[in-house]
Amino acid sequence: MSSEYTKFEGILFPKCFTMKNLKVSRDEFVVKDTDVVVVTYPKSGTHWVIEIVSLIRSKGDNTWVQSIPIWNRSPWIETDQGQLLLSKKEQNGPRFYSSHLPIQLFPKSYFHSKAKIIYVIRNPKDVMVSFYHFTKLCKFYETAESFSQAFEKFTQGTVPFGSWFDHTRGWLPLREKENFLILTYEELLQDLRGNVDKICHFLGTTLTEEEINLVIKNSSFSAMKANNMCNHSILSDEWIDNSQGNMLRKGIAGDWKNHFTVAQSEAFDKLFQERMAELDQRLFPWE
Ligand code: A3P
Repeated sequence: MSSEYTKFEGILFPKCFTMKNLKVSRDEFVVKDTDVVVVTYPKSGTHWVIEIVSLIRSKGDNTWVQSIPIWNRSPWIETDQGQLLLSKKEQNGPRFYSSHLPIQLFPKSYFHSKAKIIYVIRNPKDVMVSFYHFTKLCKFYETAESFSQAFEKFTQGTVPFGSWFDHTRGWLPLREKENFLILTYEELLQDLRGNVDKICHFLGTTLTEEEINLVIKNSSFSAMKANNMCNHSILSDEWIDNSQGNMLRKGIAGDWKNHFTVAQSEAFDKLFQERMAELDQRLFPWE
C-alpha cells in the first residue's frame, strides 16, 4: 500500500482514494432523503459515532456491531469499496454511511435532499496527536519524521482531507439546518447519555432506558477496543500495521498536553484565533 498522496481540487488524499472515486462521490452519488451520514475530519471520533448510531439502530443489541466490520456497516462514500457496497446493497431501512470529505467535495445531491448528517468536531490539537500516532500504523498515510514535522504539516493544512480549519469552517454554516447535527468529541466523553438522547431525537428513534444503557455499554472505549469489527485488527497487513499501536489508542481529551511544547501550543492557539475567532466559541468546548 502506497503512502503517497495525490491532489484533487487542491486537497490532498491518500492515493487509494482515486480521482475516479472522488469524482463519483461528488458528482454522481445520489443521496436519498432517508440517508444518515456521519461526516468528520479524520481522527475526530468517527468510529465512535458510527458505533453509537449502529447500536441505536439495533436498539443496543451488539450482534450487528460484533459481526459486521464497521466499514461495511457504514461505508465511506469516497472509497471504491464504499461505492460498490452502496450501489449494490439494498439496505433494510435508511442507508447509513460515512465521509471525511470537505463540504465542497461532498455529493452535490445532498444539498437538495433531506438526508441527515451528524458532523463531529474534536479539539484540533488532539486530532493532530491522534493522527500523528495513527500514521504509524495506517499504511496509506505518510508517517512524519518527527512530531514537529507533523505539527508543521497539520497547521499548514498540507495533510489528507485538507486543513482542519477549512474543513470545520466549511461544514459549520449548515448547523442551522434541522437535518444537520453537530456533536463534539469532548461532549461525548463528558455526557454520553445526553448525546445518545440527542442522536436518538435527531434520528427520530425512541429507545427504552434499558436499550440506551446497552448503547452506552457497547460503545464504550473498552468495548470498542475489544471488538474486532471496529478495532482494525481484522484489516490485512497491506492496510495496517497493528504491531505499531491501536486505532483505539487512548480515547481521552487533552492528550495534546503530553505532546505539544509551550511554543507549539501558543502558535496553535494564535492560528485558532486567526481562523475561528468570529465563530461561536461554544462550538469548541475544550481547553
Ligand atoms: P486517540 O487516538 O486520541 O485515542 P476516528 O474514528 O475519527 O479515526 O478517531 C479515532 C479517535 O477516536 C482515537 O483517538 C480513538 O481512540 C477515539 N475513540 C474511538 N472510539 C472511542 C470511544 N468509544 N471512546 C473514546 N474515544 C474513542
